[in-house]
Amino acid sequence: MAHQILLRSEVEPYKTIRPLLEAMGQLCQWNPLAAPPAPEALQRIEGLYNFGHHHIGGEMMDLMPCLKVISNFGVGVDHIDLEAARQRNIPVGNTPKLLDGATADMTFALLLAAARNLVQGDHFARSAEFTHYDPSFMLGQEVHGAVLGIVGLGSIGCQVARRALAFDMRVIYHNRQPSARAAELGARYVTLDELLSQADFVALNMPLTSQTRGMIGRRELALMKPTAVLVNAARGGVVDHQALFETLQAKAIWAAGLDVTEPEPLPRDHPLLGLDNVIIVPHLGSATHQTRQAMAQRSVDNLRAGLEGKPLLSRVA
Ligand code: DGY
Repeated sequence: MAHQILLRSEVEPYKTIRPLLEAMGQLCQWNPLAAPPAPEALQRIEGLYNFGHHHIGGEMMDLMPCLKVISNFGVGVDHIDLEAARQRNIPVGNTPKLLDGATADMTFALLLAAARNLVQGDHFARSAEFTHYDPSFMLGQEVHGAVLGIVGLGSIGCQVARRALAFDMRVIYHNRQPSARAAELGARYVTLDELLSQADFVALNMPLTSQTRGMIGRRELALMKPTAVLVNAARGGVVDHQALFETLQAKAIWAAGLDVTEPEPLPRDHPLLGLDNVIIVPHLGSATHQTRQAMAQRSVDNLRAGLEGKPLLSRVA
């Protein structure tokens, strides 16, 4: 008999996903912004495939008594109540490692763009105001030779450190515990306060957990150098956005590059959107054709394994 699969997504999932899911079973879609499917349909669901960041809690799992597996498209699972899944013996799969390179590339793209006025420069170069070359105009901050502070030297953070070495940067990092991989990357462990006060660039690459939520607030931003750049390619929730706005508005740090915000998207009238020392992209960290395809395949394979009662290829809970 065909497996009963719930596709939970606000949008049409990445192009290869629907055909792969349809080949595996019968699909029912739930747009989290709309009413849930009929209770009888949910009661038959064996596999939940999640595409996006809407919350999945224990109450939802309880609507699906036959649920055998939850497969998440993406590595971050802060939107899934993992403890509730554990209590119900429902394995949860995600897509670690596959997106490390792409997310580290984006961290560096934001770092370079914020340091060297890439977005403002592009707008200016297209405008009528660009009438002559001025060597004193739009000066940025030097990247090569600078100190990079990485908060969260996990597998994405290590990829960021590798890129920093190619830019002759000195790398310091902060983690819950010193990392065994730090020595090979020449990265030195420091406290969070030391990192914030010593770094020319601060890259946030940690997961969003109850320990990291709001980790970069007013006090932490005040420790940063006035010439420093903050890059967040982790989750918006690790930064206090009101404090970040006030810090950037006061020019107490040089700039910020944000791949993520909270909420996401920010309300269209959010004051951060009016500042020219912040660059914001719409959560594009892992958004390349190659990485999306790898994530699609892994998340579908995780779902299939769970439906067949086999170990998931990457299981987070
Ligand atoms: C991830 O993998 O967590 C990305 O942020 C996309 O969800």
